[in-house]
Amino acid sequence: PQVCWLTPEQTAGKQKPYMYTQGQAVLNRSFFPGFDTPSVKCTYSATVKVPEGFTAVMSATSWEKQKDNTFAFTMSQPIPSYLIALAVGDIVSADIGPRSRVWAEPCLIEAAKKEYDGVIEEFLVVGEKLFGPYVWGRYDILFMPPSFPFGGMENPCLTFVTPCLLAGDRSLVDVIIHEISHSWFGNLVTNATWGEFWLNEGFTMYAQRRISTEVYGLAYTCLEAATGRALLRQHMDNTGEDHPLNKLRVVIEPGFSLFLGVNPDDTYNETPYEKGYCFVSYLAHLVGDQSKFDAFLQAYVNRFKFQSITADDALGFFLEYFPDLKEKGVDSIPGFEFDRWLNTPGWPPYLPDLSPGEQLMKPADKLAELWAADGLNMEAIEAVDITAWRMYQLVYFLDQVLQKSPLPEGNVERLSKTYPKISEAQNAELRLRWCQIVLKNNLEAEYAKVKDFLHSQGKQKYTLPLYRAMWGGTESARALAMETFLATAPQLHVNVQNYVKKILGLEVAE
Ligand code: BES
Ligand code: ZN
Repeated sequence: PQVCWLTPEQTAGKQKPYMYTQGQAVLNRSFFPGFDTPSVKCTYSATVKVPEGFTAVMSATSWEKQKDNTFAFTMSQPIPSYLIALAVGDIVSADIGPRSRVWAEPCLIEAAKKEYDGVIEEFLVVGEKLFGPYVWGRYDILFMPPSFPFGGMENPCLTFVTPCLLAGDRSLVDVIIHEISHSWFGNLVTNATWGEFWLNEGFTMYAQRRISTEVYGLAYTCLEAATGRALLRQHMDNTGEDHPLNKLRVVIEPGFSLFLGVNPDDTYNETPYEKGYCFVSYLAHLVGDQSKFDAFLQAYVNRFKFQSITADDALGFFLEYFPDLKEKGVDSIPGFEFDRWLNTPGWPPYLPDLSPGEQLMKPADKLAELWAADGLNMEAIEAVDITAWRMYQLVYFLDQVLQKSPLPEGNVERLSKTYPKISEAQNAELRLRWCQIVLKNNLEAEYAKVKDFLHSQGKQKYTLPLYRAMWGGTESARALAMETFLATAPQLHVNVQNYVKKILGLEVAE
């Protein structure tokens, strides 16, 4: 399941086949023999021979093209197995900074260069200032074929990203900042087990938002964080707050073959990201001073770099670093016990203050209320000018509309006509929300948009919510789900295929 072989039709250029690997969480054991656990780290080298006209790239610190279409790679820093990655295709590159280039199929390379030319270096510099040296040498970005199941995958030296990021306006750059943040949290300091995945993702969400705050300011970053909180809310509403996966430390039953035990990928959800972010924010809140907490994060990276650790290691170091907090017993404040954060499911006991984003959220809240009313007040609606809104303001607005849906009869049609900027958007985050609104309001006239979106890309976080919404809907929504899945299944990553099958009640081959 780990090596994805794509036909020419499944690529952007539709001329040549493509192959890529996706290691996280436990797929690399079907790529090469090794210790496929994040608790073990090693260097690697690889020699890859490809057919004429193809290029191979890997997550390696150095590489050279030798004769006979052979590429030689070396990763000179110790990494866990899940970060070993390979892609082969008709791909070319273009420089976008002193230590960065984009890789993409020829037909996408101009767009890729335009999207990120000159912007990556600043993120790296801010990251180094906050968290310490960037040890990986280069930071390159590979734009994947449309079926790539993730927004981004932090393969060291070479992040793999979905082509959905080519929005034309850099509006999805937070995904890149997220993957860059893994250069310290995840790739240098690694969760020793997948049951403590929040150590990778929660710290990374925190680091991402620290970089974003430095580069784009607090208001914008709080707005982005509010959309993250909305995702956590949706997830907990769907699963129930008490679900055993809604704690930071999850129990993953071990297995002795591929078919026993729990596959860590099946535990993937928003909790390690957004509840993890809340916990790290809570630690910062206990410290009370941003620069002291930043210094702690840098010391944490320095203490545990090139190692794999547990939450006990991380929290033990926190208390050691701040002896006065340890003295005060901050790990056992009633209601906020570290143990409760780790082992009790449910909504985070502490939420960071996102009010600096209110100047951006309030107008969106108000507008959503206007659209949810019986008998639309078009005068008030038209008085709100959304032309200058940031993409995340529109996302936030749509999340509010979705929460209030189904809206009174006719409102969504009207909304669609009023804002073609939203209902006809090409931006993937907006398309996802619009499709969710279409389904929740049963707007059959726009079902084609759901279908088109699912045909155009295969990101798991876009695909599964839409199939869940269709399957939970009317007969015609269910028919749309079946028809769309039958047509797109061969293009989806095998994991995503299986998750959709589960949603649709189809048999999953083991
Ligand atoms: N490492 C993850 C992707 C991942 C997680 C792959 C688990 C396989 C198993 C990556 O860093 C990630 O979190 N990507 C997000 C980006 C977002 C949070 C900005 C994504 O793909 O949506
Ligand atoms: Zn991540």
